[in-house]
Amino acid sequence: MASIKTEKHEAIVLSSQSEKELQKQLVEMVKQSPMPDDELLQNIGLYLSSKNLSRILFFYEIYQKILNTHGVVMEFGVRWGQNLGLLTALRGIFEPFNRHRKVIGFDTFGSGFIGVTEQDGKAGKIKDGDFSVSDNYDAYLSKVLEIQEALNPIGHLKKFSLEKGDGSKTIHDYLKRHPETLVSLAIFDFDIYQPTKACLEAIKPHLFKGSVLVFDELCDDIFPGETVALRETLGISNLRIQRMPMTARVSYVVIE
Ligand SMILES: C[S@@+](CC[C@H](N)C(=O)[O-])C[C@H]1O[C@@H](n2cnc3c(N)ncnc32)[C@H](O)[C@@H]1O
Repeated sequence: MASIKTEKHEAIVLSSQSEKELQKQLVEMVKQSPMPDDELLQNIGLYLSSKNLSRILFFYEIYQKILNTHGVVMEFGVRWGQNLGLLTALRGIFEPFNRHRKVIGFDTFGSGFIGVTEQDGKAGKIKDGDFSVSDNYDAYLSKVLEIQEALNPIGHLKKFSLEKGDGSKTIHDYLKRHPETLVSLAIFDFDIYQPTKACLEAIKPHLFKGSVLVFDELCDDIFPGETVALRETLGISNLRIQRMPMTARVSYVVIE
């Protein structure tokens, strides 16, 4: 069986060998693009595969669900930060003056997984340190998000933060610093049981009717820990766990 780990950083990808080859070709085409620099970003759609576009469409739909709710967006498990960029752009389009809609990302930003336990099973052969990113990546990401914010109204007000470290701890530090927090959207993508459970418990008092929770790995046999964490915190039988047809794996819950 082909490897399910990426070439670097031990992330898991389930693409077939031929898909991987085609993706490699597309990356080469981006690197060798004859487009001039000042036209490249406007034309980024040329390189979006259906899979990558589907994630953008999913977050567009999710963002519509929070538009009339008050509160911040939290992402638990940021990695290279694509969702933080998308959410910043969506805020810029749909509610450019909502300074309360902060986007807060929790990740170790460097050390990858922290807290793999037996609840995470053996199928993914995962261990602490997997899914790391390059050193000082948070500084790079911070700069990108600053530029994204500056391209939208009220760019002088910083509306994102990157909470670096073990999410099981940093969530408490954040909420202590921000007791005013209402969580309008929480995206769970740590993949693993222990920090997911800790963050679900921690944000529970900050959720309200209409809060939206997104889960990347519910019912996933490679990462069983996320489902166990949800079952042990909010329970499952009282939640309407929904999905959208355009994405294979992501699901969401609106608190009722
Ligand atoms: C699958 S990646 C997130 C992918 C990202 N949401 C995306 O869509 O591109 C999982 C992330 O969770 C982070 N992570 C795992 N355990 C953590 C912990 N205890 N504290 C903070 N971050 C953790 C890893 O560093 C990794 O970046």
